Amino acid sequence: MNFDYTEEHLAVRDAAREFAQTELLPGVIDRDTEAKFPHEQIKKMGELGFMGMMVDPKYNGGGMDTVSYVLAMEEISKIDASASVSMSVNNSLVCWGLEKYGSEAQKEKYLKPLATGEIIGAFCLSEPEAGSDATSQKTEAVKDGDHYILNGTKNWITNGSTASVYLVIAQTDPAKGHKGISAFIVEKGWDGFIIGKKEDKLGIRGSDTHSLMFTDVRVPVENRIGEEGFGFTFAMETLNGGRIGIAAQALGIASGAYELALAYSKERKAFGKPISQHQAIQFKLADMATNIEAARLLVIKSAWLKDQGQDYAHASAMAKLYASQVAMDVSVEAVQVHGGYGYVKEYHVERLMRDAKITQIYEGTSEIQKIVISRGILR
Ligand code: CAA
Repeated sequence: MNFDYTEEHLAVRDAAREFAQTELLPGVIDRDTEAKFPHEQIKKMGELGFMGMMVDPKYNGGGMDTVSYVLAMEEISKIDASASVSMSVNNSLVCWGLEKYGSEAQKEKYLKPLATGEIIGAFCLSEPEAGSDATSQKTEAVKDGDHYILNGTKNWITNGSTASVYLVIAQTDPAKGHKGISAFIVEKGWDGFIIGKKEDKLGIRGSDTHSLMFTDVRVPVENRIGEEGFGFTFAMETLNGGRIGIAAQALGIASGAYELALAYSKERKAFGKPISQHQAIQFKLADMATNIEAARLLVIKSAWLKDQGQDYAHASAMAKLYASQVAMDVSVEAVQVHGGYGYVKEYHVERLMRDAKITQIYEGTSEIQKIVISRGILR
């Protein structure tokens, strides 16, 4: 057993840390307040190779492993979880799904520009009445010669207005339940595709979350991913990897909040000494550090399993379940360590606390992770 990172892992981590400090930290409070998407920063992340990290270099990707991706996600998420959710969806849902299951023509046309961050993608599964219960979706794609006619509404779509390419999951044969669901690539700007309202969110306010409406959108047959009926499996397999990215985001939020609390506790004095010298604070710091380390082990293990070509569905659900709970607990405690200062924007921890909550909701709620884990145990 070897717990060491390689030199390449450390170089990626350091590059992500440097980028987050110099390019994401300035302006992060304003972007959160104004709910402003980090356009410039995401463009630079593409140029630095953070938007298609695991994609094969023959499709313009970084050819890196999942452990590198997780290390980069943690560093970016410490500072700006809005930028990191965009990065996560592009890398682990859109690029991975296309590289694993797309046709050669789809990879040439869509994966190559997605992997460089020249364009970004969105993953469209959730609907107004089908979030956790993904089989119950109503969006329909009806075959019409060499096209499908797509009708329906998708909700809570990350990169909703900034994406150029959308992977859309739709019913092609409702009578067949989850085996009658297919996946399609839809381009922004096609007739009948309307980007709906932007959500005004508690956290990750810099990310653009939208509803999307499809009315008689003509999707060429060659834009179907895999066979008809493969869409549900496509979504489930893609989300298994997506959960590693979100678990890494949660880990980053937790470690970002912890680092701020640790630094503050050494500076802030009360009762004649730094508050870090009071046992009440020391116990908090000890709990935070221990829980973060446990989350890190689960996150890295799930990434490692994926890199080894082993089954990681169960492990990624465990990593997401645990890391998201740690993100919540640690960020709340980090605010507490800061006292009143923790409750104002300038000190960053209140934003991290608001951002933490979404990691228990998207890419499957904590309850969905428990379903995936228990099915793995009982199988
Ligand atoms: N990996 C691979 N395959 C899976 C799977 C997994 N984790 N979970 C289920 N499947 C397969 C099953 O093996 C089964 O296949 P077969 O019929 O071939 O045997 C098939 O899928 C159906 O399985 P179930 O009968 O278990 O399906 P279900 O209807 O009971 O639902 C569920 C299972 C796990 C609850 C699933 O619906 C689910 O994961 N829901 C959550 C969806 C989700 O995460 N949504 C998030 C939206 S995306 C997002 O948030 C992105 C963003 O923008 C940030």
